[in-house]
Amino acid sequence: MRALILSDIHANIDALDAVLAAAPRHDVVWNLGDVVGYGAAPQAVIERAREIGTMFVRGNHDRACAGLIDAEYFNPIAFRAVEWTRGQLDPASLQWLKQLPRGPILTNDDRVSCVHGSLVDEDEYLFSTWEAREQWTHARTQVTFFGHTHVQGGFAANAEGEWFPLKPVYTRDDAAESYDLDLRSGATYLINPGAVGQPRDRDWRAAFALYDDQAERVTFFRVPYDVRLAQMRIRRAGLPDMLAWRLRVGQ
Ligand SMILES: [Fe+2]
Repeated sequence: MRALILSDIHANIDALDAVLAAAPRHDVVWNLGDVVGYGAAPQAVIERAREIGTMFVRGNHDRACAGLIDAEYFNPIAFRAVEWTRGQLDPASLQWLKQLPRGPILTNDDRVSCVHGSLVDEDEYLFSTWEAREQWTHARTQVTFFGHTHVQGGFAANAEGEWFPLKPVYTRDDAAESYDLDLRSGATYLINPGAVGQPRDRDWRAAFALYDDQAERVTFFRVPYDVRLAQMRIRRAGLPDMLAWRLRVGQ
């Protein structure tokens, strides 16, 4: 079984379509949340995500856009995007956002679970090995896929419980690239496929991952997309310019 893992699409249809065009053959799609928010094509992204999606976990922006949480604790730019997004979605899409399940979710592979933030808190950011270590006692599966930070990579622990950062190594910034991570038995993994629609690891290319249970491998991918078109949509929608600017710098 091969699973395409997507996270943090953030209403960026241009990045999502580039990812789907570049994605290798897969049997299922696991979506780690934040389908909408920030980007200018929320309705189109929800429709595409529903077409391809097999399993979903809700993100904080999905909850805010669905009206499940008060978005006033978001920063002013994110808040503005939430308000704008709500006005763009048809009732069926709003309803779909509302019913997205909270993580952790066990997948159809009993070695893998999926969350948006962390195993403990769907809104927690896992940036450091110290934060990853706190997850140790909560991991019920060898691999947990997470999103939320918009940083591709993650963390691995050996059998002794020592944690190490995982970071794919790339040599380009203008072409498609991939990086293989072979999973070792006895190790525990927290793996972030990166953000499809708003990367924040100083690489503007859309990020995603593929999990192959037979090969026991996770492959990270980066693909260029028409970022200028995505920026133009944001500016035309009247969304804050910072949301367009950050796409090209990857932060
Ligand atoms: Fe996000």
